[in-house]
Parts: sequence; C-alpha cells; structure tokens
Amino acid sequence: MDNVTRDPLDPFPWYEVMRSQQPVFYDEQNGIWHVFRYGDVKKVLSDYNSFSSSAGRVESSSNPIGASIISTDPPRHTHLRSLVNKAFTPRRVQELAPRIRAIAEELAEKIVEDGECDLVEDYSGPLPVIVIAELLGIPAEDRKKFKKWSDDLISGTSEGMDETSEEYFNPQVAMANYFSEVIRVKRGNPGNDLISSLLEAEVDGEKLSGFDLLGFCVLLLVAGNETTTNLITNAILALSNNEEQYRRTIQDPSLIPGMLEEVLRFRSPVQSMFRTCVRNTELGGKTIHRGDPVLAWIGSANHDHEEFAKADEFLIDRTPNRHIAFGEGVHFCLGAPLARLEARIALETLIWKAGKVMVKKDAKLEPLSGVIVYGVKHLPVTVSGK
Ligand code: HEM
Repeated sequence: MDNVTRDPLDPFPWYEVMRSQQPVFYDEQNGIWHVFRYGDVKKVLSDYNSFSSSAGRVESSSNPIGASIISTDPPRHTHLRSLVNKAFTPRRVQELAPRIRAIAEELAEKIVEDGECDLVEDYSGPLPVIVIAELLGIPAEDRKKFKKWSDDLISGTSEGMDETSEEYFNPQVAMANYFSEVIRVKRGNPGNDLISSLLEAEVDGEKLSGFDLLGFCVLLLVAGNETTTNLITNAILALSNNEEQYRRTIQDPSLIPGMLEEVLRFRSPVQSMFRTCVRNTELGGKTIHRGDPVLAWIGSANHDHEEFAKADEFLIDRTPNRHIAFGEGVHFCLGAPLARLEARIALETLIWKAGKVMVKKDAKLEPLSGVIVYGVKHLPVTVSGK
C-alpha cells in the first residue's frame, strides 16, 4: 500500500489510495473497519439490519444523544422520526427565511464596515446558532453558552475516543440540565416554537417522552450548528480556490444553490459516520463481524471516480450530483432543508453586501479536530465591498 496518511486539512489523497487499494479496511490498532467506496458507504449507512446505529451506544441520562433519534434503529427510529416530522415541518423551516436574512444582513454589514474578519467567528459560526436558538424558542442571551457546548462536544469526537469519556459527557450534561428547565417552562406556557410543537406532537396516541425530547434538543444543537457553519465556510474556501467558478457565482447568484450542492460533495461538512455491525456481513470481499465498529467515509464516497466524473474538480453546475453529504436511508438528515436554506441565504447576503470575500493570502488554516466534522477553526478573509 502507498504510504499516504490522512491529512485532516486535505484527506482526499488518502481516500483515493484507500478506495483503490483497501476499500474496506480493518484498522487493527483501533479495532475499527473503514469503508471508502460510494456503493459500500451507502450500504453501511442505510442497511440497518447489518449496520446498526443503536448497538454499542451508551444509553444513560448523562448521554441524551446516545438515546436520541440518530442513535436508534427501526422500528423505534420510525416512531421517533414520524413524531419529530410533525413539528419540524417544511413550512416551519420556510417561515424562518426572513429572519435568517435579517440576521445574515446584520452580520454581513459589520464585516463590510471592518473590511476583514474571521469568517467563522463573525459570520458562519453565529448564524446557525442564532437560527436554531430562535427555532427552539431560546432566549438570545443564552446563545454563547450553546455555541460553547456544541463546540466542546464536537471537538470530543476524535478517532478512537469512546462515549464513556468525561470530555464527551460534560457538555451533554450541561445541555441536558439547561433543556430540562426550558422544557419544564414551555410545558406550562407553550409558545409558537419547535419545543412547544414537539411537546404537542402525537403519533398513534403516543407523545415524545421528556427524555426523548431532551435528547432531540441536544442533538439539534450538535447536528445543526457546526455542520452548517462548515458548509458556509467551506463554500468560501472552495470558491477562493476556484477563480472562474467564483466569478460566475458572483455574476449570477441563481447559481448559488447548485454551487452549494457541489460544496456538500466536494468538501462535505460531515466526512464520516459510525455504525456497529450486528450480523456478519460481506463487504468489498471482506467479512465484517458482528460487534465490529465501522466508520463509513462519506467524504471519500463523494470523491469516488466511479460515481462522479472529474470527481476532484469543483464544478458548480454539476448535474446530476448524487452526493451523500446528508447521509442515506432512514437517517437522512432531518435538517437538510434548513441547512440548504441557511447556507443559500448566507452566501447570497455575503455576496450582495460584501462582494468578493477572499481567504487572506498568508492565512494559516487549522483543521477542526475529530474525524466527523470537516472544516477549519478560523478563516481570515478580506472583503472587496460593493
Ligand atoms: C450542512 C449541514 C448538515 C450536514 C452536512 C448534515 C449531515 C447529516 C448526516 C450525514 C446525517 C446522517 C447521520 C447518520 O446516518 O447516522 C444527519 C442526520 C441528522 N441531521 Fe443533519 N446535517 C446538517 C445540518 C443539520 C441541521 C441544520 C439540522 C437541524 C437543525 C440537522 C439535524 C439532523 C438530525 C436530527 C439527524 C438525525 C436524523 C435521523 O436519525 O433520522 N442537520 N445529518
């Protein structure tokens, strides 16, 4: 095997070697299977009879995510998903558009005034946090706490780290305590927000339990913030490195939705997802055994030359673009419509207000830690103004 290791800033050469030489690879040191090809990654993500989202999870009151929808399999997953679908409706997402635009404009105006900024700190980071806080009906003054908890939790998801570690649980416990109180208050005094709708939602005469609701709130913060931040940041990074595609996007903003689909493929904000094998399964000529953990590399699948022509080029009008950046199968991202809406408005507003936003030439980019979320800690940029 060629001696290429995974560079967290640019893991794509490693994926390429692995796809061609070890598409289904057992890492003996950490006891984990790694899966790299498009078809195999789709299978691992969607075949819950072989690759479970719940097996191997720690379910306890100090780990609400471990008990939340993303950590369940059908039939429990089917039940939870239909309950949350009742409250998290396309209409509720669409109704957020004017608020998202107002928040984005406010943030962008500040950037234009200053002529430069850290895009993560000043734009792509705060926007999703403010939106999710408004969606859940959380007071504005608590947003900073949120951001810190979700960042701390994400930075704990490094390779080989298990779910019993202190680092993984502390922010979850803090979030759980916080949301318990919010839920208690909303039970007595419902508002026009997602938590109040979730408290009311009912399927087959059953409602979400208090603990399920808590797990879902914590999951939304974690699944929705950092990911959307990185979609926006990765878009500016990809555009800055592709002069011609940037010029076309600025000239014709109707290209933005397609451009964002290509960012989702080319620089997927979620690079990998875990499953646990629950019955011996053949994949890529190897036998994965019951009980073995499996890491499905979404970021690699989205660069697979068998599926995507010119897979290593950033082409904003790629069609078709069957990327799996939002997953595949029953766990397909619940927040995909919101993420797409937020990122579209974020890019439209940035280009409209700030013109061409470029990564500073001398910027030293530092990757986020962990194997799941892909992006940079800071992105120093300059703006051209209008
Ligand atoms: C660009 C942004 C985003 C990306 C790339 C992304 C990616 C993903 C992926 C890959 C999954 C599948 C997980 C699996 O198969 O185990 C997922 C599930 C999920 N996402 Fe997202 N996500 C994004 C934004 C959001 C947002 C904004 C929200 C909510 C506000 C959200 C909420 C969820 C939830 C609740 C699930 C679990 C669904 C289930 O288990 O049925 N995501 N996401």
